[in-house]
Amino acid sequence: MVRVTFRTIPGEGPLRLVVVGAGEMGRTWLRAIVESPLADVVGVVDVNEAAAHAAAPAGAISGTPLSEVARRCAPDAVLDVTAPAAHLTVTLEALELGLPVLGEKPLAATLPEAVKLVRAAEQAGELFMVSQNRRFHPGLWRLKREISALGRVGILTHEFFRAPHFGGFREVMDHPLVLDMAIHNFDAARFLLDADPVAVYCEEYNPPWSWYAGNAATTAVFEMTGGIRFVYTGSWCSPGQETSWNSNWRVSAESGTATWDGAGAPRTEPTDGQLHREHDDEQAGDRGYPGDDLHGSLAMFVRALRGGVVPMGECHDNLQSLAMVHAAIASAESGTRVSVAEVLRTAG
Ligand SMILES: NC(=O)c1ccc[n+]([C@@H]2O[C@H](COP(=O)([O-])OP(=O)(O)OC[C@H]3O[C@@H](n4cnc5c(N)ncnc54)[C@H](O)[C@@H]3O)[C@@H](O)[C@H]2O)c1
Repeated sequence: MVRVTFRTIPGEGPLRLVVVGAGEMGRTWLRAIVESPLADVVGVVDVNEAAAHAAAPAGAISGTPLSEVARRCAPDAVLDVTAPAAHLTVTLEALELGLPVLGEKPLAATLPEAVKLVRAAEQAGELFMVSQNRRFHPGLWRLKREISALGRVGILTHEFFRAPHFGGFREVMDHPLVLDMAIHNFDAARFLLDADPVAVYCEEYNPPWSWYAGNAATTAVFEMTGGIRFVYTGSWCSPGQETSWNSNWRVSAESGTATWDGAGAPRTEPTDGQLHREHDDEQAGDRGYPGDDLHGSLAMFVRALRGGVVPMGECHDNLQSLAMVHAAIASAESGTRVSVAEVLRTAG
């Protein structure tokens, strides 16, 4: 286990951020930061300079490259919201400039690139955290609280069934569901279980009516630490009775079962009937909850830089979630059960 350390930035005012990537998600992030008292946007960078200029809030420096914008606006940190293929170069450049990075998922486009970035963050002594915004849903945090009172967990099952017509890159890429969506669910499973992946058997397939070129449906059985089985099923071409974007979950534990539909409150059925009374107080377990969605990610990043607390999504930790994705793909391609440690070892 690596002991994670990074440079902190003590202080109280808003963190000065340069946002790199002014595409769809970059603009969503810019709106979230403008609403937040925790950070200010002091620069916006995009290889498409017109997009950077158009997205920049009043007073922010915009343009390209990052080094030039950073020289002019003296940021505290970088938010990397570029397309996955650019995560390696943008995050490396930021770390070389001596700046900590909050990066959109995935950590990198490939596992070897991800390992390279984790090492670069270690060498730079800077924080590199990956934002997995779906981790911060209040219902997921409540589910985690409730299962903590159910004793040992044995089985976690997950269902994601939706039918979006995105157009664009998702409909032509390989492994669209596993690479672009399942990373959120795999990461949420690790959060719920406080467990890491050991091995996986996975099948990827494409129903005959699928409008995706790559396999849009996947079933995977993960062995997690402690012997827990995490059974993932998902599809991006399943119209009718769609699940929420946060999926359906079922946790089977020693002293009961909890379910969550990804939208409302979890439903818990303990064998002793005590749990509902203990958890009636909604606020009781919320100490330390950083807020929902992008606000939760941003709050964790700022809290980490100000106080030195290692945040969820710190790159060493997030590498385990990305490794689940690539181990699942390796299993689907080889038709064998795959060791996650072996996949990580091969990546460098
Ligand atoms: N968490 C979520 O729910 C969620 C949702 C959508 C996208 N994302 C993630 O956000 C990231 C961006 O996705 P998007 O949908 O905004 O993509 P996008 O294609 O709309 O935007 C990407 C932007 O990055 C810019 N760019 C590419 N290479 C660059 C480089 N080297 N330097 C500077 N700018 C560069 C492009 O010009 C473009 O404007 C991806 O990692 C994606 O996986 C996350």
